[in-house]
Amino acid sequence: MKSFILLILLVVFHLHISTVKCRLLLEHVTNEDTFNVLDFGAFGDGVTEDNQAFEKAWKATCKSMSSTPTMVVPSNYTFLLQPLIFSGPCESNSTHVLINGTLVAHEDPKKWECISKGCKQWIAFDDLTKDLYISGSGTIDGRGSNWWGSYCENDEHKKSCSHKPTGFVIMNSINVHISGLTFLNSPQMHIAIERSDSVYVSNLTIIASADSPNTDGIHIQHSTNVFIEDTNIGTGDDCISIGPSSHINISRVNCGPGHGISVGSLGKNGDYDTVDYVYVSDINFNGSINGARIKSWQGGHGHAKNIVFERINLIGTKRPIVIDQFYCDHTTCHNQTANVQVSDVWFNNIHGTSSSMVAVRLACSESLHCKNINMKDINIQSIDVVQSIDVVHQIRTTSSYCINVQGKLEGQVFPPVPCLNY
Ligand SMILES: *[C@@H]1O[C@H](CO)[C@@H](O)[C@H](O)[C@H]1NC(C)=O
Ligand SMILES: *[C@@H]1O[C@H](CO)[C@@H](O)[C@H](O)[C@H]1NC(C)=O
Ligand SMILES: *[C@@H]1O[C@H](CO)[C@@H](O)[C@H](O)[C@H]1NC(C)=O
Ligand SMILES: *[C@@H]1O[C@H](CO)[C@@H](O)[C@H](O)[C@H]1NC(C)=O
Ligand SMILES: *[C@@H]1O[C@H](CO)[C@@H](O)[C@H](O)[C@H]1NC(C)=O
Ligand SMILES: *[C@@H]1O[C@H](CO)[C@@H](O)[C@H](O)[C@H]1NC(C)=O
Ligand SMILES: *[C@@H]1O[C@H](CO)[C@@H](O)[C@H](O)[C@H]1NC(C)=O
Repeated sequence: MKSFILLILLVVFHLHISTVKCRLLLEHVTNEDTFNVLDFGAFGDGVTEDNQAFEKAWKATCKSMSSTPTMVVPSNYTFLLQPLIFSGPCESNSTHVLINGTLVAHEDPKKWECISKGCKQWIAFDDLTKDLYISGSGTIDGRGSNWWGSYCENDEHKKSCSHKPTGFVIMNSINVHISGLTFLNSPQMHIAIERSDSVYVSNLTIIASADSPNTDGIHIQHSTNVFIEDTNIGTGDDCISIGPSSHINISRVNCGPGHGISVGSLGKNGDYDTVDYVYVSDINFNGSINGARIKSWQGGHGHAKNIVFERINLIGTKRPIVIDQFYCDHTTCHNQTANVQVSDVWFNNIHGTSSSMVAVRLACSESLHCKNINMKDINIQSIDVVQSIDVVHQIRTTSSYCINVQGKLEGQVFPPVPCLNY
């Protein structure tokens, strides 16, 4: 009996030792998994450039064979960074970058290292071909205001301002997940997704002033399977712009100020561009210039088709629904016969107010009509009606402009779009 109790005690003791050992082992592994930029020499004082430390921490993270190596950018520090490329491929099947601190760029464009060759971008992730997770509650601040306005118009600065960098780029990558972060004041576009597949964007905030030029929130090009969800964007250009790409799914986005969610512009300089399968749903446009838009240049080739915009709420949107095959951002563009074919488009369940009279504008070319354009359950009223219903002389009603378009209406559609039939 005594020896039996002893045996039990021994077993219990042994179990206890093993769990302690096991826990120590786990903690050890966890530490080996984590690569904090401070441990690699970063200052985080917002004044000293921290590129070297970030490069070292990334190299260690990317080389790590552990299951979830994580590069950590801690909170309560501000890291000043010159343009930086995080290159892959990495060893692990699941590499993480946790950004809780703040990243800032030089405020003075002349201080950017790449300035003589033209800076393409500030921060890039390139050639990451296994799962990469970029997340955190941190802020990525391009401090781009000097790139936007009068500073760059000054002769002394003109040259250094001639190529405005994109803030943050994901390129040549597969299975990238970005979430939680805040992006501010990029010199040009905030986030570009290029030549990539399976990119999942969620829970981001992207902010720049309404008059900052070309500061698109997210630009997608030459990419497939891009998902953007639960994101707030207010900038000086398109909240989201979609260049040549396919299978793009955007949902639960708040957009405004900004130029809306745009497919295009496609076919610039006679290019052959295609966009297929774009699904945009559950969007709030608040004070944006455009809402749902498809735009192409004359003289271009290719197509934009299978595009759905649905469940869209508008607050004072200037041009809520736009198809424009005559896109031209400079003063003169000639009418040409070639164009990008726009077809199989659905605008469903779109409600709210417009700040201009022409709430629906479908402008397609004489030589290449837009085909199978569908509208269902649309009700867009003038913002004046809603705001001053009692001031009779201010009541204006919305209308539509429609040329060279073939398609169908379903349900209630206001304003009427007479070139489409029930
Ligand atoms: C950052 O600072 C805040 C406020 O001072 C503090 O509550 C928090 O614990 C700090 N976080 C870290 C990781 O040191
Ligand atoms: C990564 O995934 C592949 C394929 O599933 C597997 O063979 C490999 O062992 C994994 N590598 C690591 C480091 O876990
Ligand atoms: C980073 O921030 C997230 C969200 O605020 C928090 O859950 C996480 O613990 C933080 N991680 C570190 C390493 O500070
Ligand atoms: C969104 O990100 C913030 C950090 O920026 C985090 O606190 C919050 O939990 C995230 N929400 C969801 C639904 O993931
Ligand atoms: C797009 O994403 C939404 C939200 O995650 C999902 O409900 C929907 O099925 C997706 N649509 C397509 C066409 O993939
Ligand atoms: C729309 O934007 C305005 C101005 O930023 C803000 O005051 C208002 O609360 C927003 N409305 C909604 C419904 O989000
Ligand atoms: C081009 O064609 C459109 C529609 O047919 C017409 O409204 C416009 O005036 C033309 N522009 C030029 C420069 O000829």
